[in-house]
Amino acid sequence: MSGFRIIGSGHYVPGRPYTNDDLARVMDTNDEWIRRRTGIAQRHFAPAGQGPADLAVPATERALESAGLGPGDIDYVLFSTMTPDHLFPGSGPLLAARLGMRTVPALDLRTQCGAMLFAFQVADALLSSGAARRILIVGAEAHAGIMPWRDWDILEGTNPARPSPEDWDRATRHRGWGIIFGDGAGALVAERSEQAGPGVLATDIHSDGRYAPLLCIQAGFHERPYLTDAMVNGDAALIHMDGREVFKHAVTKLPKSVEAVCERGGVRAEEVDWFIAHQANQRINEAVCQRLGVPLEKMPSNIDRYGNTSGATIPILMDEMRRDGRLRPGQLVCMLALGAGFHWGSLLLRT
Ligand code: UT7
Repeated sequence: MSGFRIIGSGHYVPGRPYTNDDLARVMDTNDEWIRRRTGIAQRHFAPAGQGPADLAVPATERALESAGLGPGDIDYVLFSTMTPDHLFPGSGPLLAARLGMRTVPALDLRTQCGAMLFAFQVADALLSSGAARRILIVGAEAHAGIMPWRDWDILEGTNPARPSPEDWDRATRHRGWGIIFGDGAGALVAERSEQAGPGVLATDIHSDGRYAPLLCIQAGFHERPYLTDAMVNGDAALIHMDGREVFKHAVTKLPKSVEAVCERGGVRAEEVDWFIAHQANQRINEAVCQRLGVPLEKMPSNIDRYGNTSGATIPILMDEMRRDGRLRPGQLVCMLALGAGFHWGSLLLRT
């Protein structure tokens, strides 16, 4: 049986960080609430004119450089985003074209915050079937375009005015999700390995569309036309998230999934070196650790600096851990995530 190794990684976040106090200029919120309820202190946003493929370019260049490879050495691209550059085509072919990867197959995955579970499962299948030898796995998001405020100059402090009462109320109505998201890109290079050992050991991955209404953007092709002025000015083109319900599902489904994947992989949770979790809310990850009885030190976090970058959280975190030496070959990793769809689950990986 063949497996794969992560041989390169990179990440990129755009521009300067936006603090919680910056957000408090455009909605009724405050630093203390955001830190206490989410663990987030700051996040980055893609500048106007930049989408996830743009953010993925420097992340991929860094990943290729760390692997000692060039764009021509990649023979498959898996691109995860829930904020694509266009409704179609996907962001994968845009990235591949930007990097001069010629006609390499580029597949977009639409599994939102659960993205990396699916990307690793698909990468494992492509590599072990021989369909690919080196795969670029990217998670990149530009949520800036769906944030619930219009006054970026007020947010940035370059305009001392206050938002109109309507804009203030709109942003405040959406403050539950408006404070958690941030933008960025992470890229990983997975290479087929003939050695027994490294690669995916077990998966426990689920989807259940009955929960779609709890976290979605309603606008889309079930409408004629698919987008109207009323939708753009109202709420249908914004994120709808029942945060409290999503939270409850995360803290119950994720520990169960980790237990299931450990049983399937024949390992005990204590043997896992790192639980690499989606960064949606630090309180979710603390609750998962507590339910599993694993020390929080085994579940690294960077949500304080980046917020929730949806499909990008896990590859950004893995890159940071590879670069600072925490994530090393031979370790046992349990990846876990839950997001819109719902898609959720966990995956055991030997690095
Ligand atoms: O990554 C994809 C998956 N997404 C998630 O996993 C997100 C899961 N959910 C969450 O992370 C949390 O539910 C949120 C961070 C979204 C919200 O935190 P919460 O602790 O569940 O707050 P809540 O929605 O239950 O609201 C509690 C109170 C409410 O006030 P009242 O009704 O008690 O007076 C809210 O209006 O906090 C208020 N509130 C805020 N106050 C200040 C909600 N958002 C804010 C805010 N600033 N940004």
